[in-house]
Amino acid sequence: MRSQSPDIFAQQGVGDSFVRMLAPMEGVTNSLFREQILGVGGADVVATEFLRITGERQGVSPIERHESVPLQIQLMSPHALTLVHCIEHLYQNDILRRDDWLDLNVGCPSKRVNSRGAGAALLKDPEQLLAIISAVREVHPGVLSVKTRVGFDSDENYTELLKVLSCAPLDFITIHARTRCDAYSQPANWNYLAKAVNTLPYPVIGNGDVFSAQQAALLRDSTHVRGVMCGRGVLINPFLLRDIQDGRLTPEPQERRAELIDFFFSLLSRYQARERRSGRRLTGPVKEFCVWFSRNEFLPGGLFTLAKRARSLDEIAEIAEIFFTSHRETPAGTNVPIRTIPESFEYHLT
Ligand SMILES: Cc1cc2nc3c(=O)[nH]c(=O)nc-3n(C[C@H](O)[C@H](O)[C@H](O)COP(=O)(O)O)c2cc1C
Repeated sequence: MRSQSPDIFAQQGVGDSFVRMLAPMEGVTNSLFREQILGVGGADVVATEFLRITGERQGVSPIERHESVPLQIQLMSPHALTLVHCIEHLYQNDILRRDDWLDLNVGCPSKRVNSRGAGAALLKDPEQLLAIISAVREVHPGVLSVKTRVGFDSDENYTELLKVLSCAPLDFITIHARTRCDAYSQPANWNYLAKAVNTLPYPVIGNGDVFSAQQAALLRDSTHVRGVMCGRGVLINPFLLRDIQDGRLTPEPQERRAELIDFFFSLLSRYQARERRSGRRLTGPVKEFCVWFSRNEFLPGGLFTLAKRARSLDEIAEIAEIFFTSHRETPAGTNVPIRTIPESFEYHLT
């Protein structure tokens, strides 16, 4: 079923052969974090956190785009009309542009969101999902995609879902290879991705459990997806997308540790500068990042345990300074490579 004409990534000049995308992550992928990741290199496309659309004339803060790569703006709503009218309203107010990359969230597992029919709950009714996509397509000439899972409670409707989605006017799709109820308890099953590649007439981006360049290569070769989207992997290793680009399988430990520490302080100073400018406290997103970052296998363990009690960014900076200095000689590998999820992790909604 794969189309022979240049796909949307080729048309937009994005990605060489294998597209690398930063996943949308609520509480983390704000413009400042995205800029920091773009500074590292390796990302072809980045994404906003989801934006929940609840009203036709909803006010939305200005969206900071990037010079170097496209930004996927992720919207979430179960109501086609609300969504369409809101998009038009946001065009009129110069918040959205007609050439933006819009992405529809069909994967959020939050109970609160799902009880209102949004996020992964849309998987229960593929026809309604198709109606929403078609309605948005009517008003949005720019790139349009969906980020979804393989089912709500189970994968039993996956074949049906793909059948319906094969008629959807999308430019591409990102599939997180789990059901909503799997949460992160089960490993992602990439076989679902291969099935989507063979069924859908537009490109498929694979998502779920890619933590290394080796895994990305395996995903590419075993499923033939058009690209990979990485979430937690980038939080644990902010150099992941660049490693995938370079095919870098084993970084030199001391060099990597130095890069990681530089990354951390550089990110922190961006947050400190923004906090000074905006007057808004930004300890939350830094702590959220630390939950994952402190699990990097080239760093000594324990940073998050210390940082989580900090009351300010300056305090986090002091803690990190002492932590990294006193662990200068701790051998790499005191952290185990990620397979399990930190206890403090919750996919939450503000
Ligand atoms: C902290 C956090 C926040 C997330 N927020 C979003 C979100 O706003 N929208 C979305 O579609 N997925 C969200 N996700 C899911 C990720 O985009 C991704 O699909 C999932 O983590 C699986 O990919 P991974 O194994 O590469 O992490 C979030 C995940 C995390 C860890």
